[in-house]
Formats: sequence, structure tokens, C-alpha cells
Amino acid sequence: MAKEKTTFTCTECGGTSPRWLGKCPSCGAWNTLIEQVAEAGPGKNRLSAPQGYAGLANAQPVLPLAAIEAQDVARTPSGIDELDRVLGGGIVEGGVVLIGGDPGIGKSTLLLQAMDALQRAGLPTLYVTGEESGAQVALRSRRLGIEGSQVQLLAEIQLEKILATVDATQPAVVVIDSIQTTYSDQLTSAPGSVAQVRECAAHLTRMAKGTGIAVILVGHVTKEGALAGPRVLEHMVDTVLYFEGDTHSQFRLVRAIKNRFGAVNEIGVFAMTEKGLKGVSNPSAIFLSQHSEPVPGSCVMVTLEGTRPLLVEIQALVDSGGPSPRRLSVGLDKDRLAMLLAVLHRHAGVACMDQDVFVNAVGGVRISEPAADLAVMLSITSSLRGKALPRGFLAFGEVGLAGEVRPAPRGQERLKEAAKLGFSVAVVPKANAPKKPIEGLTIHAVERVEEAMNVVRGL
Ligand code: TYD
Ligand code: MG
Repeated sequence: MAKEKTTFTCTECGGTSPRWLGKCPSCGAWNTLIEQVAEAGPGKNRLSAPQGYAGLANAQPVLPLAAIEAQDVARTPSGIDELDRVLGGGIVEGGVVLIGGDPGIGKSTLLLQAMDALQRAGLPTLYVTGEESGAQVALRSRRLGIEGSQVQLLAEIQLEKILATVDATQPAVVVIDSIQTTYSDQLTSAPGSVAQVRECAAHLTRMAKGTGIAVILVGHVTKEGALAGPRVLEHMVDTVLYFEGDTHSQFRLVRAIKNRFGAVNEIGVFAMTEKGLKGVSNPSAIFLSQHSEPVPGSCVMVTLEGTRPLLVEIQALVDSGGPSPRRLSVGLDKDRLAMLLAVLHRHAGVACMDQDVFVNAVGGVRISEPAADLAVMLSITSSLRGKALPRGFLAFGEVGLAGEVRPAPRGQERLKEAAKLGFSVAVVPKANAPKKPIEGLTIHAVERVEEAMNVVRGL
């Protein structure tokens, strides 16, 4: 293939330069030039022709929406229930999925298992490994007990070779493990750079849309989201899945954060075992640490991200701090913690100004919904006072700046799940209080934070 010319475009002002410079020659901004393949043909980018656009391209036919027939997407279940749940039912023809997550969390393992299941179901698959050698993947397959697998393997990192192989072998599903190691000949930037990642993903996406081959891209993201590449990718692909959870714990969560073919925030729960990832079909109680006696600083909440309620234990530790006390949260929003501490002080008279405050959602689960607020506040108060909440206690509800407790969506479902798991006392927002009593569950409906504090004090 003839080398196409590359140019460097400034992300700030759009100015171009034929070579990489630290400083944009047009606007003077630093480190803003990124490499791009120049479009072939003269004047392609000069759309602002004063005489109009007719000379540049032919007008295309347009249709009213009503005249276009809606088509259901063809899905093939991967055979791994928890993965299908987050995908919205299965692998979609021509769909592009990005799976991100920390190194070692299980991306390659899950995809190898999924490819094997699809291959067994009769779908031709291709697994492109750029990070590990064929022998290493074979070793993993032995560990997974799928050594006889017919999944086609290609150890390659050059995009053009990968595309040519896909064209020749015509698989139904291709895994690219990982997009950071893939590079295109057309660009001179190093593999893993934003320009390479973007260019490769764009080519693979175009291939998927043009041929109907489903593409699954593996992306590396550090906790801080340090790598810029995958963020750019999120816009290009149809579905973005992220692995969550602590690599040291057994459980892994796969969350859909974008899905053009299904619901977002759906969660798949897996356990990492000796033989790969196993779906956990009834995960509601796995994020509870099993204390034999109730301990101070712990409050259980029911989170409902996706369609399944999960009971999660929120832990807090409040300890006398130095001149500038620390606020640290794991699995919960740090800014929200600062806000809740202010509300706690102002509206419930609980002062933590001179205290270090640490909060943690047990099991490495990340909770983004504000329904965790009440549980966070109650666990902090419990730790500060050294007084445990009673056995079988749970709370949920969003807390506003004025100290009001706002309802959480689908409160009934949350309460029913808690009752099913043997919880007996709940503090919930007034609007979430069920009309009919739930067997075994005493419900305290509150409208304000101070009310919630009073209820807990009286238990
Ligand atoms: P891997 O899939 O290589 O992670 P990623 O591709 O996201 O970097 O996951 C590897 C981790 O999982 C590794 O620490 C070993 C562990 N593991 C098991 O516990 N059991 C298994 O059967 C396999 C294959 C891996
Ligand atoms: Mg891997």
C-alpha cells in the first residue's frame, strides 16, 4: 500500500503543520498537535467554497423518516449470560464493542471464553492477540479448560495485516486485544498514541459497518483514566463496557456505560475462579462483608443500577485528623462526600471538621447513584459515635443541600430485595415508603436528614 501523507493538526485551533512540533505554529498552544492521515484528493477539506458546494460533490437523495423501514438488529447470544445481559442480549451484527478495564482484571479471559462459546455455537471467530503470543493464549485456554477450541488465533499488531486477514477469513466476530498495541503503517506515531488508537479504531469500525462483522476492542484504562485514547474511542463505538471491581477480590463487575443496542448501567457480575470467569446469577448479597456482630461505621444500602438490585455495604472510618484532615472515598464520588459532610454538619449538627473521613463501598463496586447518600451519612455518624447500627439495618435515599431526603427510583424493588435477604429495618425517603407493608421489614420513612438521625438514635 502506498504511504499516504500525514499532517499534524492542532486540537485547539485546527491549524496544520507538515511535521510534529511542540508548539502550534498557528495559535502557539503547546502539545496540541496530533497526527492525522491526510485525505487523498486535492481540496477535500476546503468546503467553504464561495461559489457553493455543488462543484465539490453531488447532492444525495434524502427520505422522510416514515419511508424508512425500521430493522431489528440481529443478535447472537454469546452463551455467557452475564455478558449477554450487559450487551443487551448478545453480539450485534456489525456492532463495535469496547471493553475497558485495569490490567489483569480479566478482559482477555472473558473474551476468550466468549469467543469459544460463540465458536461452539457455530459462529466463525477470530481472536487477534497483540499483547500475548499464541502460546500464551493457548496456555490460558488450557487453564480455562477449552484447549480443544476452534477459535482462530492471529498474533498480529499491524492494522493492515489484521484487516487483510479478516477479509480473507470472513469471521463473524473479531476480538482485537488490544487496541493500544495495534498500529497502522500510515502513521508514524508510536502504537498506543492517541492518533494511532483513533485511526485504528476508525478503520475497524468502518470495516464492521461495511461488512456486518462484529468487532470487540479491548482498551486499557488506568484508574485515573490516564490514557486518552480509549476516551476518544467511546464516541466511535456502539457499546462501551467497563470492568470494575478490585483485582484482589474474587468478584468482577462489567458495566455498560454506553449501549446503542441496550440499556446502560446494566451490570454483569462474575467471579474469577481457577477456571476463568464464572457468572454470578444471584449477586445481590456479594457486596456485604459478613460481620458476626454489627460494627460501627457500617451501613448497608440497596443500589439499583441496571435492572437488578444489589445490596452493598458502605463503610466509614472517622478518626481524629491533623491540621488538614483527609477525605477519601473508594467506590463513591469524592466531591459528593465533601458535600454530604457539609450537609451533615449544617442540618444534623454532626461535625467532622477536625476528623479524617474515609468511606468505602465494599467489594470494589463503584456506586454513582445519589441514592447512596443516606447510607454514607449514617455510616459516618455511626463511626464518629462508635455506635453500630442494628443488625438487619439498611438505608437509601438521595440527600439534598437543604437537608431534604429525596426518593430513589424503584424503591419498592429495592425494599423487596432487602426483605428477601432477611433485612428487618429500613430508613427510606418518604416517597419510597410502600403503601402495603413488606413482610419482615419495619420501614421508617423520613423527609429530612435530622429525622433519619433521630430514627437511628432511637433504634
Ligand atoms: P486477564 O484476562 O489476562 O486480564 P486482562 O486481559 O484484563 O489484563 O486476567 C488475568 C488475571 O486473571 C490474572 O491475574 C490471572 C487471573 N486468572 C484466574 O484467576 N483464573 C483463570 O482461569 C485465568 C485465565 C486468569
Ligand atoms: Mg489481556
